[in-house]
Amino acid sequence: MKKVITYGTYDLLHYGHIRLLERAKALGDYLIVGVTADGFDMARGKINVQQTLMERMEAVKSTGIADEVIVEEYEGQKIDDIIRYDVDIFAIGSDWKGKFDYLNEYCQVVYLERTAGVSSTDLRSHENAIKIGIIGDENELNLIDKFEQESHFVNGATIEGICMPKTTKLPETLLKMPIVTNDYADLINNVDAVYVISRLEDHYDRIKQALENGKHVLCESPMTSSLKEWEDLSELAKSNGLVLMDAIRTAFSMAYYRMLLLIKSGRIGDVVSVDASCSSLREMRLEAVGSLCAWGPNALLPVFQILGKEYKSKQILSLIVDEQRKYDAFTKISFVYPHAVASVKVGKGVKTEGELVVSGTTGYIYVPAPWWKMDYFEIRREDPTQNKRYFYQLDGEGIRYEIVSFVKAINKGTNTLYIDKNVSRAIVKEIEDYSKGLFIKL
Ligand code: CTP
Repeated sequence: MKKVITYGTYDLLHYGHIRLLERAKALGDYLIVGVTADGFDMARGKINVQQTLMERMEAVKSTGIADEVIVEEYEGQKIDDIIRYDVDIFAIGSDWKGKFDYLNEYCQVVYLERTAGVSSTDLRSHENAIKIGIIGDENELNLIDKFEQESHFVNGATIEGICMPKTTKLPETLLKMPIVTNDYADLINNVDAVYVISRLEDHYDRIKQALENGKHVLCESPMTSSLKEWEDLSELAKSNGLVLMDAIRTAFSMAYYRMLLLIKSGRIGDVVSVDASCSSLREMRLEAVGSLCAWGPNALLPVFQILGKEYKSKQILSLIVDEQRKYDAFTKISFVYPHAVASVKVGKGVKTEGELVVSGTTGYIYVPAPWWKMDYFEIRREDPTQNKRYFYQLDGEGIRYEIVSFVKAINKGTNTLYIDKNVSRAIVKEIEDYSKGLFIKL
């Protein structure tokens, strides 16, 4: 019996896939199809596959062409599979021409002509392409520019325009967008969703206007500095069936998410302490927010995601350098939970080691600085031979994964898994407490 094997993602299965499978099958008597696992696709840069592995495998099975469907999980697996399944022919589309010649050592390699005019990438970008408008502030040009650049890696989303108080200050790349305006209503009318990166005091009005006009919102965290405003906006989003999502890039990185899963599954025993620090010495501009508003959402994220929101008490300690604006050069918050403690240290006027340590009863997790751009973490134990390191890919500082999650949430009509509503709320509560002056001055 002649065995043929082929591989692919098979996202949104289309006739190009089916034609390939039929021709691959015709090369022999038995066809094995390897479908890529989600993590493997992420690692090789395919970040916004729409369907889950299960859905894609089911789609391939339902064609009735494959005799066996397997999962492709790691680089180099093809050689393993060819030997293990005693494969005679490896078949793949001509877009891969030459790339798999090295497999000739193990079996015959056949490149089949790719069907012109159709691809999953095209289907993803044409189907439900979400038009995003940016509502910005000139202090954040750097991040706005990165966001625009990163959006090009995401199928199914395009940045349609930008609204800024002064559009003259925009760099060339941003000026080229179809809409460049200082009239927010003009932007809103021409997009499906907005990314809010304006000044914190403007967030509420900007988000409200977008939601009232039926637009989804991705907003730099904290969403507001008042719980009442946060509740209003969440309610509005819910009643209008819209996505309202915090933009905290770390939450969308694979390393961070996997670390949370390992902690939840008890790999370091019971968690007793979470210590997160974020600092970057920056010029303290008049218009800019202080340390807690700038870094707080990031540093608070692992505390609330690991220990929950129900702490017993807390103490906020701040080094204030501008009384009038309550501008903090440094803030430390210590939390006491029923069986654990946590601390966050944030600084724009104080430098510290930006690391994350999660201590448990059987070991601890260590993430080196800058932990918020995490692509690696380590589980450390009393016996160092038991230490384990975990590496993941992090492209574009996580911004592209954030956009992918936003687009997926919109397409699926649900909010994202990555930042729970209660976490978003808990972050706003800390900012509100600080704004009310509930801190001790250093
Ligand atoms: N294929 C094909 N003709 C097409 C599209 C894909 O023959 N029009 C083949 C590929 O060459 C590969 C298999 O189908 O052998 C699975 O391809 P996959 O990468 O899953 O599909 P694409 O549509 O190319 O996906 P993407 O746009 O995400 O790269």
